[in-house]
Amino acid sequence: MLAYFDAWEHHTSEDAWATSWWEMSMQVGDLIAKIVSGARGSIQIQPNASIALASVASCLDFKSSKRNKIVTSALDFPSMKYIWDAQQRVGARVEVVPSDDGVEVPLERILDAIDDRTALVALSHVSFRSSHRVDVEAIVERAHRDGALVLLDVYQSAGAMELKASDWDVDFMIGGTIKWLCGGPACGYLYVRPELQSELEPRLTGWVAHEAPFDFAPPPIRYDNSVRRFAQGTPSIPALYSVLPGLQIIEEVGVKTIREESERRTEFMIDFALERGWKVNSPHDVNQRGGSVMIYVDDGPAMVKRLGERKVFVDCRPGVGLRISPHFFNTDEEVREAMEILAELI
Ligand SMILES: Cc1ncc(COP(=O)(O)O)c(C=O)c1O
Repeated sequence: MLAYFDAWEHHTSEDAWATSWWEMSMQVGDLIAKIVSGARGSIQIQPNASIALASVASCLDFKSSKRNKIVTSALDFPSMKYIWDAQQRVGARVEVVPSDDGVEVPLERILDAIDDRTALVALSHVSFRSSHRVDVEAIVERAHRDGALVLLDVYQSAGAMELKASDWDVDFMIGGTIKWLCGGPACGYLYVRPELQSELEPRLTGWVAHEAPFDFAPPPIRYDNSVRRFAQGTPSIPALYSVLPGLQIIEEVGVKTIREESERRTEFMIDFALERGWKVNSPHDVNQRGGSVMIYVDDGPAMVKRLGERKVFVDCRPGVGLRISPHFFNTDEEVREAMEILAELI
């Protein structure tokens, strides 16, 4: 942020685009692409994950195509639900795959919902509610077999575990930097499979998506031939400054190492909780889990406050309980201490 202030002081507004702003968007996009194992030029920075999703929705035509179904899940983030719900006004049919326990959505149920009328399967990779993780390979295989596209909301997984954007052959990924990627707010991103990019023409658009933005040409827009065709207007430059160091640290530490530590710590937390008879609202199987563990407590907000007074920082979600998310900068000792303090308070 100090670098941003410095640049703000010394640049004139005229030369900022030429000297840094344009490149910064690409630099941040490519760094995120590296972390999620996607190709260079596969990620366009977005104002936030919700806009990234709305951009994808605006590429789809539900009225004139026989493919008008969106398959999504009960464990997705509210933005996902609201945006797909709103697409019903323009001809989309939305099938929300239910969860019986609020923790998991069975894979078979997701696969069964996909058919030859499906335009897009749009799911959280890891659920914000329960930390449940879906089987990406099985879903992409079934969707592509039936001619449907796949979108993953990786907000809760990118930076916490290895993602394989290219190898999975997933079509879109959306997310943001404020969680496991250790960045500041208002930096979302959209991954679009490189071979798919030129086929899509988002209706949610703006001058930055034009192939020659500084021509300020009249419509119709000529979409750029790169992932920039999914941009809208001026990016939030302070947000880009705020995310670069975090991304560089995540890259340096490595998501493989981060995941190994996370698995050990979340296993420990779950064992600790189950031994005491607490209700764990996350999958017990490490292969179906992200980096957070949800532990039920009666009054989540009150417990978050009491833990905070003891310097244990967690959050909570309604009906779920505490959401505890150790990252690479924590130690095993800290995690143990946090759980012991929680036991004391319970
Ligand atoms: C899984 C998931 N998706 C989407 C969002 C929303 O992101 P944004 O505020 O960038 O739209 C969040 C934020 O918490 C999230 O956890």
